[in-house]
Amino acid sequence: MGKILIILFCILISNSIVSDAQDCNTYSFSNNAIYATCISLPVQNSHLHWNYHANNGSVDVAYRHTGVSTSTWVAWGLNVGGSGMVGAQSLVAIPNANGSVQAYTSSVDGYGTSLQPSSLSFSVPVIRAESINGDVVIYATLVLPSGGTSFNHVWQMGPVSNGAPGAHNLASENRNSVGTVNFLTGQAVAGGGVGGSILHRRNVSHILN
Ligand SMILES: *[C@@H]1O[C@H](CO)[C@@H](O)[C@H](O)[C@H]1NC(C)=O
Ligand SMILES: *[C@@H]1O[C@H](CO)[C@@H](O)[C@H](O)[C@H]1NC(C)=O
Ligand SMILES: *[C@@H]1O[C@H](CO)[C@@H](O)[C@H](O)[C@H]1NC(C)=O
Repeated sequence: MGKILIILFCILISNSIVSDAQDCNTYSFSNNAIYATCISLPVQNSHLHWNYHANNGSVDVAYRHTGVSTSTWVAWGLNVGGSGMVGAQSLVAIPNANGSVQAYTSSVDGYGTSLQPSSLSFSVPVIRAESINGDVVIYATLVLPSGGTSFNHVWQMGPVSNGAPGAHNLASENRNSVGTVNFLTGQAVAGGGVGGSILHRRNVSHILN
């Protein structure tokens, strides 16, 4: 009996890993882009797909956030000098009522950010976004700073009112959307936002993690 339960448990676990991996690896992008690596992020129904180019230290990413309504912003970013929300060099997408999606970069300078457009601490020569069947996809090319390949990253979603992004919830899904990603090895680790979750709780006005 014990053995059967263990086997069943293993089957259940491997099924969930396989279905996640399939969603990650078999997703068809509208532009037929193929990405060599994909990770399913642990919270907020998001996936990060990328091609890393060792010759010039750049990475082409597609951040895909599933099940996003038109009154929801999504964002993903690298925190180069720290972790969590403050300092996150972010890609932001805001769906328009007509189905198009506005995409831009925003360097998050504090908890009171309104995610205003700004340049990042590294170059982002390409950024655009689309919404397809409730998935918002941000496509971008990042020239990774200092030839680095491993970074703290954050991702988030929040409400849009009158076209402007508002503060996100502070539910566990919103507090646990931090981790590290290695664009060279494909390794990703969840969590690790030291200080991030403590600081969040102190200030309801902060917007990205
Ligand atoms: C980096 O190199 C790759 C492969 O050679 C190329 O496709 C890509 O356009 C380059 N990216 C940048 C930002 O120079
Ligand atoms: C959709 O709405 C946005 C924002 O109002 C506007 O900038 C854009 O031109 C519109 N696109 C189309 C295809 O109508
Ligand atoms: C909370 O956000 C407000 C408004 O942006 C800001 O003035 C304040 O310094 C923040 N407090 C903390 C503890 O970060």
